[in-house]
Amino acid sequence: MSGKHQDTGRNDSNAGSNQMWGGRFAQGPSAIMREINASIPFDKALWRQDIAASKAHVAMLGAQGIVSANDAATISEGLDHVAEEYARDGVPEDWDLEDIHMTTEARLAELIGPVAGRLHTARSRNDQVATDFRLWVRDAIDQADAGLKALQLALVARAEEHAASIMPGFTHLQTAQPVTLGHHLMAYYEMIARDRSRLADARMRMNQCPLGSAALAGTGFPIDRNATAQALGFDGPTANSLDAVSDRDFALDYLMAASQVSLHLSRLAEEFIIWASQPFGFVRLPDSLSTGSSIMPQKKNPDAAELVRGHAGRVIGCATSLMITMKGLPLAYSKDMQDDKPPVFEAAGLLALSIAAMTGMVAESEFRTERMRQAAELGYATATDLADWLVREADIPFREAHHITGAAVKRAEADGVALDQLPLEVLQAIDSRIDERVYQALSIDASVASRASYGGTAPDQVKAQVARAKSRLDKE
Ligand code: ARG
Repeated sequence: MSGKHQDTGRNDSNAGSNQMWGGRFAQGPSAIMREINASIPFDKALWRQDIAASKAHVAMLGAQGIVSANDAATISEGLDHVAEEYARDGVPEDWDLEDIHMTTEARLAELIGPVAGRLHTARSRNDQVATDFRLWVRDAIDQADAGLKALQLALVARAEEHAASIMPGFTHLQTAQPVTLGHHLMAYYEMIARDRSRLADARMRMNQCPLGSAALAGTGFPIDRNATAQALGFDGPTANSLDAVSDRDFALDYLMAASQVSLHLSRLAEEFIIWASQPFGFVRLPDSLSTGSSIMPQKKNPDAAELVRGHAGRVIGCATSLMITMKGLPLAYSKDMQDDKPPVFEAAGLLALSIAAMTGMVAESEFRTERMRQAAELGYATATDLADWLVREADIPFREAHHITGAAVKRAEADGVALDQLPLEVLQAIDSRIDERVYQALSIDASVASRASYGGTAPDQVKAQVARAKSRLDKE
């Protein structure tokens, strides 16, 4: 059914009127109408949720005596049968059936006959799709969370291994102060921890069941909304039927949390890209997450990291797209809202790939700690330590100490040496209050070890961060 049509708007008399809603129509929709209306090409991804929600609904209809126990059982078994077919053969795409809800109901009718028509009692596609989609987003949140936990475990393992590996810390991408690689990796652990809490927050807020809101106003049938909510793992029913069928905040909460995740992954990817470049040479990326060049044999390109960086733009685009879809819609349902699914599905797929790629990169990269150490030594990373020493040991005001240190760096730069390679006479010529004890402060090891404030870069502090993280992850 998914061929391209030729006509543009003429009635297609062969189509007849729609079997689900065509009662008041003399003619069927044109080919263009059928194509623009059909969401089955993408919303078939909701089939598991659609079956689960229908089963919860019909069980409730049976329990409430709204349909007979027999009919409820027939419908429920029929739905199981449809689910087996979908799992085995995929979901058929018939534009005339528009979406996953009508596709399933039509197949059910083929299998069990007219009793299938009782399933749609006391519900509408509006509360149906709102329920299915919430269930889908809830699963996507759970999957993202599991992936992010694996990433955190990888970060913690590498951080523990490199709690004392020294590298330059940067501000403005200029060497600032020496830090440890473990400290740097644990910074990302913290970002991911916040991302996971944002996802958990979105999950908690969205976990209310729209089913039973019907088209917009609720229903006159004596339904039990608590029963369906509970059967589907929701905390309870939504409180306002108009809101429940119109709300897509839950999808937006997810997309915004996903955007924040992808933004963090993109920054981490960017670090690996920079570190893997030859002038840096801080890391050898795993072969399994790199590609070669068809013309330059020496190249090993960080494509996976670049695509994670690229995907962040697309995920953020998905969030923007749905915000713009929603921003002008009056209550309650409008068909624009059918466009809510592609950006969510797209973002979820991109996010899962990005998380997996970065987890592999963190776990399997080879960190070239000698190169990192060298870069920290040559970058005058201990200049702040010299200034601090002058304040502490020679009682010089910090501003003056800063100035003296600047002169020492200038001299070292001119001589092409590290700060701790300047002879004492040279340092004393710059300021006579300097003595030989200064060399202790100028070593990058001493510098790093001295930054032992809570959350600081000293190896002991990094080990403490790692220990706290491990016990947090263990308790989950
Ligand atoms: N396929 C539709 C969607 O995803 C289902 C809801 C249709 N509701 C309606 N009143 N036409 O939005």
